[in-house]
Amino acid sequence: MKDIVFSGIQPTHQLHIGNYIGALKQWVHIQKEHHCNFCIVDEHAITVPQDPKALRDRILTTAATYLAVGIIPEKTTLFVQSEVPQHTELGWLLMTIAKIGELERMTQFKDKSRKGGAAGAGVGLFGYPALMAADILIYDTTLVPVGDDQLQHVELTRVLARRFNERFGETFVVPNPLIQKVGARIMSLQDPAKKMSKSDTAETATLFLTDTDDSIRKKIMRSVTDSEALVHYDPEKKPAVSNLMTIYHHMTGETMKDIEKKFAGKGYGDFKKDLAEQVIQHMGPLRDKINHYLTDKTELKKILDAGRDTALKNAEAKMKVVRERMGLGR
Ligand code: AMP
Ligand code: TRP
Repeated sequence: MKDIVFSGIQPTHQLHIGNYIGALKQWVHIQKEHHCNFCIVDEHAITVPQDPKALRDRILTTAATYLAVGIIPEKTTLFVQSEVPQHTELGWLLMTIAKIGELERMTQFKDKSRKGGAAGAGVGLFGYPALMAADILIYDTTLVPVGDDQLQHVELTRVLARRFNERFGETFVVPNPLIQKVGARIMSLQDPAKKMSKSDTAETATLFLTDTDDSIRKKIMRSVTDSEALVHYDPEKKPAVSNLMTIYHHMTGETMKDIEKKFAGKGYGDFKKDLAEQVIQHMGPLRDKINHYLTDKTELKKILDAGRDTALKNAEAKMKVVRERMGLGR
């Protein structure tokens, strides 16, 4: 049986090679078998301070990136969250059944509110998981592919679905998380103990999908390595080189053993030079496609309009039932 899939990425920063290897590549694969909804969750992005112009640019860049990696709009509903207002409507309804204690336990909220303290954090940041639950539940989603950092939010989604069903009658499908395989985690080029991240402040830590060839070369040549100059895969003892090898593997399909053999007797310099060329060869065409969608926006607009219309239709059908179950309106 086909699954109904929902996942989303926040358009807070440019997407990077970790997003590509850890999430987007898998989405492209999943869409072949299942019915997918892939969303640009711009309303989640405003739970932390945002510059409106930058946000709008990134929404479009993110959409162009989904398409460039191979999301097929005929197979998949690709849309922008804020264009389907039923998400925020259901988000509010779910907030009335979520508990303060449940939301306070979310580690992402604890992390993001740590700086200013929970009392000073925005209510939107606090209620964020209820909106995420709404994204998922409104489409009768059965499967949610996410990174392990989002598992807690999917679990809360399951709790809210069950609670709603108990109170108001069977309405929501209880979805399952799909956690990506281990080994798909790409680390910072400057600190192999840290996940590669959109918001890393170190300039050369993150390989963005829109980086120029020169910038890719510069970042890879300047990446940190381990002491012994040997291209050998050992994530415990040689985390930096193992991370670079993981990227090499995902670019070429070559196994770690193949890569070790290829660079036996050579130093890190040769390995990095070749890695940079592999990344350029594989990610260059992707960047050009992203730029193509961004320079000629007609196609992009058409695709996002169609995605919005499909999502609106499905979301509104569900909301009719939900409003009635809860006794809202007349
Ligand atoms: P984020 O960039 O945290 O919004 O995550 C968007 C998606 O990309 C999630 O499914 C993450 O698990 C995945 N992702 C983010 N960073 C990495 C990384 N460094 N390596 C692998 N996957 C990642
Ligand atoms: N919270 C997710 C993240 O930060 C993004 C997201 C929003 C999401 N709504 C979703 C992911 C629904 C999966 C399903 O990565």
